[in-house]
Amino acid sequence: MPKPKTHFFVCINERPTGHPRGSCTAKNAMGALQALGQKLQASQKFDTVMLSAVRSCLGPCGTGPIMVVYPDNVWYGNVTPQAAEEIFDSHVNTGKPVEKYMLKEGTF
Ligand code: FES
Repeated sequence: MPKPKTHFFVCINERPTGHPRGSCTAKNAMGALQALGQKLQASQKFDTVMLSAVRSCLGPCGTGPIMVVYPDNVWYGNVTPQAAEEIFDSHVNTGKPVEKYMLKEGTF
């Protein structure tokens, strides 16, 4: 497989119910992951786009679900399935981030 042009990482870390930090999975990270998978399947861009689920916390849990896009190094928060679709389309089709979902400095 060639090096991907766009690589999406979605945090699917889980914590016990009631944990003070919560988790991305408790906030429907799997829905975002599934939405990205469907977009990738529909696009058939398996040679340039890669999708990875990350089982370890990426850090800013309070604004989860968290998604990171490389090599752009763009971090997103509150990634709903609909947001994931929009982010996929923008990065893959135009190479541009979607500012309204980007994490702000100081969130990390
Ligand atoms: S649990 Fe996803 S960023 Fe911490």
